[in-house]
Amino acid sequence: MTRLDRVEETPRGPFAGPPLTPRTAVIWSVLRAELDRRGDAELTVLDVGGGTGGFAVPLARAGHRVTVVDASPDALAALTRRAAEAGVADRVVALQGDGDALAGLVEPASADLVLCHAVLEVVDDPTPVVAALATALRPGGAASVLVAGRAAAVLARAMTGHLEVAATLAADPAGSAGPRDTLRRRYDADGAAALLRAAGLEVEEIHGVRVLADLLPAPVADGQPGLLVELERTLAGRPPYRDLAAQLHLFARRPA
Ligand SMILES: C[S@@+](CC[C@H](N)C(=O)[O-])C[C@H]1O[C@@H](n2cnc3c(N)ncnc32)[C@H](O)[C@@H]1O
Repeated sequence: MTRLDRVEETPRGPFAGPPLTPRTAVIWSVLRAELDRRGDAELTVLDVGGGTGGFAVPLARAGHRVTVVDASPDALAALTRRAAEAGVADRVVALQGDGDALAGLVEPASADLVLCHAVLEVVDDPTPVVAALATALRPGGAASVLVAGRAAAVLARAMTGHLEVAATLAADPAGSAGPRDTLRRRYDADGAAALLRAAGLEVEEIHGVRVLADLLPAPVADGQPGLLVELERTLAGRPPYRDLAAQLHLFARRPA
């Protein structure tokens, strides 16, 4: 077994994160750099649409205080159980609520780090949600935003023989395949960056997440998970690979 055939158990450095997977490795790399930059500070983290706590619980385990705002009571119940099992119930707050009504739930300028992963593609209108994220951040605070990629969705539909759906997705201004699509919209890097900039955030980094993972036959992906994670990290920041990823990760900051 070579070094690349092993899945790295945790990110290097002081932040002991969860096991890295092709779905999360690139995002944790970016977040870890921000956590390292903040040194030993206990950060106030807000995870909008944080679901069952896949990011919130590891961040709480790293010593930060995390508030998860999510529309789903079921997801929040699972989050609460997960936080208790991890021994960090005292550092995780679960709030049921809507992303675009954050103002009533969270103090303005109170968060050091805001996460909004896989949410902007499902909400009614992403503009007020992003504005609310920006308002929740302290000056100098950072936002981690993950959105569905449009190009990958077009290619995936075409490669599975759904050419009409691919054509609809490619032509639709929002990048949706219509009323039966599970997502209301998808993004390219420029469109997602423009959305964040319009809310006053400075976009510092854009990475592709799952450039290859969804394209590979399961035996290949499962057979060499460490190599796949390494490749995902290598390709994540490099156009054109980045722009073909299933998701785009944007790291942005509220100006100090
Ligand atoms: C695809 S899941 C993503 C969960 C988590 N952020 C992750 O990346 O694993 C989308 C989450 O957003 C939540 N959600 C959807 N619309 C929302 C809204 N308007 N306000 C807050 N949460 C919302 C859902 O309940 C769900 O937990």
